[in-house]
Amino acid sequence: MAESKLVSELASRLVGVAIISSDIADSDVSGQDIEALIAHITEHFTESERPALLTRDMLLKIMSRGREVEQPIKVDVVMPLDFRPRAREVKADYLVRSVEVEKTVGSVSDFAEHFNDRLSRLKSMIYEGQNNKMAGMIHGIDSLRQYAAGREIAIAGIVYDRRVTKNGNIMVTIEDETGTAKVMFMRPTKDTRNKSAIDLFNNAGKIINDEVMAVRGKISGPFVIANDLIYPDVPIHQAKKVEEDISIAFMSDVHIGSKLFVRKQFDMFLGWINGKQEHRRDVAGKIKYIVVSGDLVDGIGVYPNQERELAIDDIYMQYKEMFTLFSEVPEYIHIFLLTGNHDAVQRAEPQPKLPAEFYKDFKLSNIHLVSNPGYLTLDKVRVLGYHGTSLDSVIQGIPGCSYSKPEVAMLELLKRRHLSPIYGDNPVIPSKRDTMVIDQIPDILHMGHLHKNGYAEYHGTIIVNSGTWQSRTSYQVSKGHIPTPALLPVYDAHNQSMTAVDFNMQFG
Ligand SMILES: [Fe+2]
Repeated sequence: MAESKLVSELASRLVGVAIISSDIADSDVSGQDIEALIAHITEHFTESERPALLTRDMLLKIMSRGREVEQPIKVDVVMPLDFRPRAREVKADYLVRSVEVEKTVGSVSDFAEHFNDRLSRLKSMIYEGQNNKMAGMIHGIDSLRQYAAGREIAIAGIVYDRRVTKNGNIMVTIEDETGTAKVMFMRPTKDTRNKSAIDLFNNAGKIINDEVMAVRGKISGPFVIANDLIYPDVPIHQAKKVEEDISIAFMSDVHIGSKLFVRKQFDMFLGWINGKQEHRRDVAGKIKYIVVSGDLVDGIGVYPNQERELAIDDIYMQYKEMFTLFSEVPEYIHIFLLTGNHDAVQRAEPQPKLPAEFYKDFKLSNIHLVSNPGYLTLDKVRVLGYHGTSLDSVIQGIPGCSYSKPEVAMLELLKRRHLSPIYGDNPVIPSKRDTMVIDQIPDILHMGHLHKNGYAEYHGTIIVNSGTWQSRTSYQVSKGHIPTPALLPVYDAHNQSMTAVDFNMQFG
């Protein structure tokens, strides 16, 4: 049988979920809502069964059963009597610091102030945090001219340009408010055995525009020949241990209102957090805080033809559904909702917290609205939540970063102490104060946006990307991205360990 366009689309969208049997024809699926159908099929096979063979009989059954995407959600949240969550007995202790969202007209002087603020604050972080590497430091690039060739110096600036010369060396132009300097990173020769020289050159290949960095090097004619590359970085530190036996759960990219929102799995989560499942019930009972890093809903008009992929095509109804769902979480758990690029706020970052018009019917004492980015102190744990929209540009710009390993790109941002260094692709407001600078060292750096779970640890900071609650979109298929829906990372703040609960499993 010749494979039809629809069947072939279905097959590519269901990679990793189901293998389409050859007895399925175009006529079986024509006229069907493909997005809804993919969601039905994805729900049909549990994680442990995937990828499963989808026969025509199974497909017809799934289609006849349908998926009640527009039915109101009904979760039986009466807590079983034998569920005695420890977290209920613990007094909530939290501090929220939303960043200021300043309005500017984007004039030349706004940009100048914005980048000067970025440079001066990150430069201070470099000098204060790594002064051992900054001996012989020169405060203004312009004064470089006064020094003789061969002199060893250290200098900091903002990257204006990076290029590879015809000899294969990397030349970086950095600038500050006084002038510009050309810094050369020499390509190691075949005989170079010096590991630090090789590392330095590889790291120079990761330099991106508009980031703040410092170099040590020797003056040589019009160049500084670099022998070290220094980022603001985070110092090695240790998160404070929380005395109480509590945990923090992380979520992002819930995308409520999308046909691909994994409602069945989310319902399982709601039942679980209310103690209705035996599976990992001890973990459920310790959760005191939930941080949700944006894309709370799917939004409206975020990308062309989005309406085809929406189960709820009214933004107010999307948020109503979102608050209805989160109101099923027990009240002793505090939920922090940040915004993301799909939410109904300005697209440029920093993004303000969700406006009151979207939650006026839901004044819930345990739900807190936060800007993107936003700083939280949960008991003693310092969490920096950021949606992660800039990760697209970071993956594009830094070799070694990819959509399959979000933690690698997140680590690069942490080292640079900036959440969106590359100006351009990810819109950022040119405010007087650059609020995308990471000005407080986080114990946990939490992001989403890539719809892929990822974990790392760096200098004592736990890096976590909490994935998504949306199955694979046509956009992700076109880009070859494979999401990891319904995997909930949970940080045990007492034992200082991370785990993840998988809601793709059928647990009883
Ligand atoms: Fe998203």
